Amino acid sequence: MGARGARLLLWLLLSRVGLGGAGSEELAVLSAPCGQVETTGRVVGGEAALLGRWPWQGSLRLQGSHTCGASLLSRRWVLTAAHCFELSNDPYQWTVQFGELTAYPSLWNLQAYYNRYQVERIILSPKYLGAPPYDIALVKLASSVSYKSHIQPVCLRASSSEFQNRTDCWVTGWGFTQENKSELEPFPSLQEVQVSIINDSMCLHLYQQPGYQRTIWGDIMCAGDPEGGKDACRGDSGGPLVCDADGLWFQIGVVSWGVGCGRPNRPGAYTNVSVHFKWIRELMLKSCRPCVDPGPLLLVPVLLWAPFLLRLL
Ligand SMILES: *[C@@H]1O[C@H](CO)[C@@H](O)[C@H](O)[C@H]1NC(C)=O
Ligand SMILES: *[C@@H]1O[C@H](CO)[C@@H](O)[C@H](O)[C@H]1NC(C)=O
Ligand SMILES: *[C@@H]1O[C@H](CO)[C@@H](O)[C@H](O)[C@H]1NC(C)=O
Ligand SMILES: *[C@@H]1O[C@H](CO)[C@@H](O)[C@H](O)[C@H]1NC(C)=O
Repeated sequence: MGARGARLLLWLLLSRVGLGGAGSEELAVLSAPCGQVETTGRVVGGEAALLGRWPWQGSLRLQGSHTCGASLLSRRWVLTAAHCFELSNDPYQWTVQFGELTAYPSLWNLQAYYNRYQVERIILSPKYLGAPPYDIALVKLASSVSYKSHIQPVCLRASSSEFQNRTDCWVTGWGFTQENKSELEPFPSLQEVQVSIINDSMCLHLYQQPGYQRTIWGDIMCAGDPEGGKDACRGDSGGPLVCDADGLWFQIGVVSWGVGCGRPNRPGAYTNVSVHFKWIRELMLKSCRPCVDPGPLLLVPVLLWAPFLLRLL
């Protein structure tokens, strides 16, 4: 009994370290496991994603209609863009759908309705003033998402500076990859586009040319393809920009805005998620007392039992 208790204590202490203990603040992830995918294949020559390749991708829906992209952070929390709620900030009008390649399921696709979750609370970044920057929002769901191989959370990280020079990140969504395509022809299936992270000085330079002036400041970061043609577009807002590292996928950005879509020298603008890491962590932990996921809070009861367990040894 004593040995078992000690082993339990040791395991809990070790798992606490694994979840981001002393000295690993930079690498801390908010929910574990996260960022894992079972499907790694790609549709050859296509831009349509396979089911399960982006298992955190959600469709944020106003009165049932796809309005924005979103990403799953944990069973109850979803990340998206603040500007998605311009149309309505009443949680009862919103749902989030996961685990589907289509944002426009047919009426008899019961699975899609089953994987739709009612929103309980919408929390815009307190720094958001009705336009970018700080275009980020947290959504709390009214019930817990059931994880499946094609419904999984993405990881977040306190720092994303190591991704600055990456050319192999991905943005996903149901938006329009060509800006002048008819608005009546949204993509029926989830699309994926590979993009490069574009550093602030380069992005500032690109957006300083006459006719296209935009201010790049605050938490705005840029990604795209200098040649154009690879970008997020209308209907993608709020969706995730992700990069992989050490076998896990991290969300680096939230799709925010762009000038047109995929135009040369007009990279897409994203909200830099790591700027908001503390805000997100605080909100998630504060509401997490009844959470089932093991987290740092587990340590507290263990420490209270510790003298008792040690006496048993
Ligand atoms: C996001 O912002 C942080 C803090 O300003 C910065 O260190 C990091 O490099 C930015 N990430 C990217 C990908 O630009
Ligand atoms: C990114 O590239 C710049 C310029 O080449 C270099 O100074 C910087 O160290 C690189 N950053 C990372 C994280 O590799
Ligand atoms: C889309 O249409 C606008 C206005 O008609 C035009 O200025 C823009 O260059 C077009 N974009 C593309 C990618 O063809
Ligand atoms: C920013 O990116 C440009 C183009 O990729 C590169 O030439 C420049 O060195 C980078 N600057 C920094 C500070 O990394």
